[in-house]
Amino acid sequence: MKALILAGGFGTRLRPLSCTRPKLMFPVLNRELLDWTLERLSKSGVDRVILAVNHMADALERSFRYSRYGIEIVYSRESRPLGTGGPIKNAEGFLIEGGEPFFVLNGDVFSDVDYGKIVKFHEDRGAKATIALYEVEDPGRFGVVELSKEGRIMRFVEKPKPGEAPSRLVNAGVYVLDPSVLDIIPHGRKVSTERKVFPALAREGSLCGYRFDGLWIDIGLPEDYFLVNKMMLRSLAADEPLVGKNVKVHETAKVVAPSAVGDGSTVAEDAEVGPYAVVGRGVEVGKGSRIDGSIVFQGVIVESFASIRGAIVGEDSIVGRWAKIEEGCIVGDHALIGDNVTLTRNVEICPFREVRSSILEPGKVM
Ligand code: GDD
Ligand code: MG
Repeated sequence: MKALILAGGFGTRLRPLSCTRPKLMFPVLNRELLDWTLERLSKSGVDRVILAVNHMADALERSFRYSRYGIEIVYSRESRPLGTGGPIKNAEGFLIEGGEPFFVLNGDVFSDVDYGKIVKFHEDRGAKATIALYEVEDPGRFGVVELSKEGRIMRFVEKPKPGEAPSRLVNAGVYVLDPSVLDIIPHGRKVSTERKVFPALAREGSLCGYRFDGLWIDIGLPEDYFLVNKMMLRSLAADEPLVGKNVKVHETAKVVAPSAVGDGSTVAEDAEVGPYAVVGRGVEVGKGSRIDGSIVFQGVIVESFASIRGAIVGEDSIVGRWAKIEEGCIVGDHALIGDNVTLTRNVEICPFREVRSSILEPGKVM
């Protein structure tokens, strides 16, 4: 079976980290989000993936090339963003081949939904489109449905206003579509699947909803991105830290579970990593430093006696001696946080910035 993955989008709410990487390349326990998705798809028998790309397409193509986990990867490019529906039409040539239903996935979703079960459900109902549905506390940020007992979607409302959500069941961004759905998507235009296509299919009675529980997070916001890493640490590294290849941990240093340390990293004497730390590949954690509740991307150098708590530090950044990065801070890639600098809560530093003096008010440093 084929799957189209929506991989465009700007990830505005994940700035400054999304300034330098597409959302699908955000690391979750040191593997790109897309890598997790491809692995799961391959396990359910998907053999061809169409990545619908525009913004930062090259980064994706350089990293993922043309196959992974036995899946063939092709790139469907847009010269300008076509929304969530336009890219499906744009890839029509790939999708109609064989005349079978195909998957469409929002690429920024991390989930362990059983793809095989959705297909089965779709076939049993004879639907034109089937959407995976997940129950959340606060549905306002999502597409929300009214579902009948038989699993038909009676109404689909994208991002309802407060008090107007028909339920707490939301569109999980995983669909099975019949090729006939392509007929109702206009060509060469920006189209919203959620505002145009799904409401039309719901009116016609050919949209079904498959409910699932388990793991599901849209990583669109920093807190959700944190949460995904936390949940995966709990599920894969609860008792024992997940330590990559060629990692050197000094005998006086501690790595406390749940935590993960990527390949080739070093943790120097008296340093403490964890709990809830994800340290990327090739990171140097200096003497006496502390990292907890944080995500440190690959190639970061943390000098001695620095502390990083509840923060994200982007790729190849340098955190100086005695620097202190507090909760909610996000440091962009290739930034430099000088010696003795404190970043108070919720400070954001843009990529490539050098910060030489403390920032004691929350805010962005461009
Ligand atoms: N190729 C391409 N072109 N992809 C795009 C474009 C575009 O112009 N715009 C967005 N995307 C991709 C994003 O990268 C993301 O993977 C997916 O389409 C959904 O876009 P978001 O911008 O993340 O939408 P959202 O999170 O606000 O809402 C969507 O996802 C929710 C679940 O996560 C909707 O589908 C909601 O109905 C849904 O509940
Ligand atoms: Mg999203």
